Amino acid sequence: MVLLDDFSNCERSVPARIVQIAHTSPVLIEGDVSNTALVHAALTQHRIDGVVHLAGLKAVAESVAEPLAYYRANINGALSVLTAMQTAGVRQFVFSSSATVYGVPQYLPIDEKHPLAPQNPYGTTKWHIEHMLQDLAQSEPGWRILLLRYFNPVGAHESGLIGENPLGAANNLMPVMVDVMQGRRAELHIFGNDYPTRDGSAVRDYIHVMDLAEGHVAAIEKLTAMAAGESTQAASWCDVINLGTGQGTTVSELVRAFERAWGQALPSRSVGRRPGDVAECYAATDKAREVLRFTARRGLELMCESQLHFSRERAKRK
Ligand code: WQD
Repeated sequence: MVLLDDFSNCERSVPARIVQIAHTSPVLIEGDVSNTALVHAALTQHRIDGVVHLAGLKAVAESVAEPLAYYRANINGALSVLTAMQTAGVRQFVFSSSATVYGVPQYLPIDEKHPLAPQNPYGTTKWHIEHMLQDLAQSEPGWRILLLRYFNPVGAHESGLIGENPLGAANNLMPVMVDVMQGRRAELHIFGNDYPTRDGSAVRDYIHVMDLAEGHVAAIEKLTAMAAGESTQAASWCDVINLGTGQGTTVSELVRAFERAWGQALPSRSVGRRPGDVAECYAATDKAREVLRFTARRGLELMCESQLHFSRERAKRK
C-alpha cells in the first residue's frame, strides 16, 4: 500500500500511528496529487492495482469564501490522479464524494437517485468530479469505479491514535463541541432551534468514521472481485453509493450524547440558523447493503466516546 499526502491538513506523526494500528508499513510519499508525474511514478513503481482518492478540501463555509482554491484542489487533483491512472493502466478507483451533492432534500431518506443540486462550491466540486468519472467510464473499457457519498462522518479510531484533527478552525459540530470541552471556545452555538423537526434543531446522518472506513474496504473488495473476473477490455462500470446510517439525529440529541460520554453539561446556546443549512438530511442505505453488503453498526455513544478518547490522547501528545 502507498500513502500519498501533502500534509497540508495532517500532522506528520500520523503515518507512524497508522503503522502502530495496522501493524504494516505503507510506503509514504509526500507530495501533491496535482503532480501527475509523481502520482504516475507511485502507481508504476509500486505495482498499484487501485486507488482510493480522499485528498481534497472539505469545509463548506471555506469553499464559499475561496471557491477557486476548492476547484484547484478538488477538481485538478482528481483530474491529475485519473490522468496518471489512465497512462499507468490502473483502472480501479474509489472516490470520496459527499451527500452535499444532493443539496436541499426533495424527499427523505435520500437515495442515490435523488436529484443533484449542490448549494456550495465544495458540493459543486464533488458534483463535477462525479460527472468526470461517469464520462470517463463511458469513454473507454476496463474501469471499475465507485463513488461513495459520505453523510456526516464523526468519531475516531478506538485506539485514540488517529481522528479528526483540523489544523485550522473547526467548523463541523463534533470538533466544535471538543473545542468547548477543552476550553478553546466558551460555548457551542446551536444554529437554529426553529426547524420543523422533533426538537427544532437540524437533523443529520452521523456515521462513525470507522464504519466509513469499513465501507471503503467493502468497496475495494467489490472492485477487486469484479476486476478478477473480467477482461481489461470489458465495458467499464461506475456506480454511486451512500455511506450513512439511515438514522436522522438532531443537533440537540448529538449534544446530549456527547454530554453523556463526557459526563458534564456542555455550555451551549441556540442562535440563528446558519446560512446554507438544510433542516433534515439522512441517507437511504439499501444500496450499500445490496451492492457492498455494508451496514453501519456503531451508534452515537461510540461516536462520542471515540472522539473524546482521541481528543484526550491528542492533548497528551502535545
Ligand atoms: C451539522 C449540524 C449545523 C456547528 C458537513 C459538510 C461536509 C460534509 C458533511 C463530507 C448542522 C449544526 C454545526 C456548530 C451547530 N462532509 N452546527 N453549531 O454542515 O451537515 O455538513 O459535513 O462531505 O463537511 O457539508 O456538518 O457538522 O457543520 O453541521 O449547530 O458550531 O450541526 O447547523 O445542523 P454539515 P456540520
